[in-house]
Amino acid sequence: MIPGVRGLLSFRCMPRRGKFITFEGLDGTGKSTQMRKLAAALREAGHEVVETREPGGTATGEKIRKVLLDSGTAALDARAEMALMFASRAQHIAEVIEPGLASGRIVLCDRFTDSTEAYQGSGRRLGSDAVRALHRVLCGNLQPDLTLLLDSDPHASVQRARRRNEHALKNGPRGQDENRFEQETRAFFARVREGFAAIAKREPTRVVTVDARGTPAQTHAKITDVVRRKFKL
Ligand code: TYD
Repeated sequence: MIPGVRGLLSFRCMPRRGKFITFEGLDGTGKSTQMRKLAAALREAGHEVVETREPGGTATGEKIRKVLLDSGTAALDARAEMALMFASRAQHIAEVIEPGLASGRIVLCDRFTDSTEAYQGSGRRLGSDAVRALHRVLCGNLQPDLTLLLDSDPHASVQRARRRNEHALKNGPRGQDENRFEQETRAFFARVREGFAAIAKREPTRVVTVDARGTPAQTHAKITDVVRRKFKL
């Protein structure tokens, strides 16, 4: 066979690159529930879907998650915190996200680099530039095709996350402690919310803000509408 023809054939057999959709927002806005609902709807429509999360998503990432979220992790320096978020992410991209996209799947991810920009960049005041520079170096500047930013009443959302995590600590299988961030102040979460809003303003094509104050079913309907229109599914 002519070499060029073989190349063309193997190219044609490669699956089309999948879509990368991230969910962002303050703690307790219902991201995880909405991600599960979208995954179910997409599977029902015949798509292959990968559901994953950050920090975490790989065996190494889940260990890093434990260090980051356990309220027993005392006096963690903000820069060390940011470095751990990126360590988890770099592994996650290599092991889960890129292979998923390369095999044509829709990859749904609960939080990605926008969370680092909002929480560490804005909340911890390390600045957006540092986060974006690390993203270029450590994550090959991988950008989601769509980011759903769930927006809700900040105080109510954080209270909800606090209650849920305290419940998991008392009743979870291994007394799972994921309370470290929920112990932050209202001022911290106000800065995080502003950080998310600034990203949405800067990148209106990628980031769609979804009002998540209604029932889970209402929010799900808004999300499926955005996804359907964006990807013509
Ligand atoms: P998550 O499990 O999504 O919490 P929740 O379900 O309460 O929204 O995320 C855990 C915490 O990690 C959350 O408080 C936000 C924080 N976080 C960062 O500070 N930076 C990051 O880059 C990521 C991915 C998460």
